[in-house]
Parts: sequence; structure tokens; C-alpha cells
Amino acid sequence: MYVLVALVNIATRFWVMHMRKCLIAGNWKLNGDHTLCEQFAGTAFPTKPSLDIVICPPTVLLQSMHQLVKKYSNCLHLGAQDVSVEAQGAYTGEISAKMLHEAGAQYCIIGHSERRANFAETNEKVAIKMTHLLKANVSPIICVGESREAREQQQTLAVIEAQLSPIKAVLQQQAVSCAQIVIGYEPLWAVGSDRPASPEQAQQVHQHIRQLMTDVPDVDALRIIYGGSVTAHNSAALLAMPDIDGALVGGAALSIDSFLGLLPAV
Ligand code: PGA
Repeated sequence: MYVLVALVNIATRFWVMHMRKCLIAGNWKLNGDHTLCEQFAGTAFPTKPSLDIVICPPTVLLQSMHQLVKKYSNCLHLGAQDVSVEAQGAYTGEISAKMLHEAGAQYCIIGHSERRANFAETNEKVAIKMTHLLKANVSPIICVGESREAREQQQTLAVIEAQLSPIKAVLQQQAVSCAQIVIGYEPLWAVGSDRPASPEQAQQVHQHIRQLMTDVPDVDALRIIYGGSVTAHNSAALLAMPDIDGALVGGAALSIDSFLGLLPAV
């Protein structure tokens, strides 16, 4: 009997794992232009039911890329790189979640380490941004990750827990399904460094994140993607890990060849 229950558990876990679609998101950061939008929109990316490909160009290119994608692309989804913490009003220069939705964004990165470091994006602000995005029907890609010092001091999991704490509180309060969000684990020491986390290091944190989120609805549907120097050379090993459901890619998302090279084979 015990063996049977264990087997059913393993089978369920395997099924659920494969239920989560792999998500590969390209974060162009402060790069790219209309020509790059045309190149990406005109490329025949692999269309697989098990794969979502998301391109996050600078906001100003979003709308024209959306038109190009509608016209030429078979499968690209669009994402933004940030959203205002305000919903509307006298906030010169800001872009709201509703505006991003209207411009064609289905996803939006929030809490990226570059925004946390350079633009004072706190955990609380990330939670507010998430609320606006969910209301506007845009899936947040919530980035978390520890510094090198935190890792060296064995503080990785504590940092991730603190970053996710206000997020978790909002999700629980509003009974939001984990299927509506994506978490990006991006260790700061791996971003833009050519030194990615090893698959085992990343898996350990991803597994911990999933455990942390267990009391949020539909945790098995939560996609946790890894970011930090993902390339064609290391993506397969990272994506083979049971709790790594995709990748958030910076540098290697700036050319068609390097991006195509890191997409999963199946
Ligand atoms: P990278 O950037 O792939 O260039 O390391 C990842 C990111 O910042 O999202």
C-alpha cells in the first residue's frame, strides 16, 4: 500500500512538472531598436505547446513590436521591463499597468536586480506593482536573487524569503493563483557575469521558492525561471532541473542566433 501511494505521488509530481509550460523570456534591457524588433518578429521560432517565448523590449518599442508580432510571428509573446508603482495620475514619465496591457504586453518584469539597485525598487514596491499588473491582466515576472556576499554568508534563502514575503502576503490575501505569476531567480553574481549558477545551485533555490509558496493557491502551477548568464552552452542543463521552468535571458537575447540556440529542444 505504502509503495503504491509513493508511486502515485511520484507520478503526480512528474505530471504536474510537465504541466508547467517552459517559459523563455528575453530581457533586452536598454538595448534594441526597431530593426531588432523586425528581426525577432520575422523569425520562425519553434512552436511547441510546451513552450512560451516572451520578448521584453524597451517600453517605447512595445507597441510597434506588438503590431509586427501580430503580422508576422507565429508564437512570440511580449513583456515589459517595468511598470509604475502608481495606477494613474500626475506622475510624469511613468507608464501604468493598464497602458502596458493596451500596448500588447502579456508579461512584465518587476523587481529586477538592476532596478532594485539603481532605482530603489523595494520589496514592498514590487508587491504593489504586482497588484496593478494582475488587475490589468498582465502576468508579473517577479525577480529575486541574492548578492555574492549574501551567498558567501549562507544568507541566500533568507534574502529570497524576505524578498518574497510581501508578494506572498498579497497573493494569499487576494487568493491569486500561482498560475498567474512567474518568479525569476536571478542571483546578482550571475547576472551579466558569464558565470551562471550551476544547475544544482539554481535547483536548490528554486525548490526552496516552491516550498515557500506552498500555501498560495496552485503552487504546482507556479513557474520559476532562472536568470543569470544563460546561454546556448548552459541552458539545457539548467532546464533539465525539476524546478527550473524556464529562463530569463539578458545578453544572449540580443541576437536571433544566440537566442534560438538556447531554446529547449523539446
Ligand atoms: P544576463 O541577464 O543573461 O545577461 O546575465 C539576465 C537578466 O538580467 O535578466
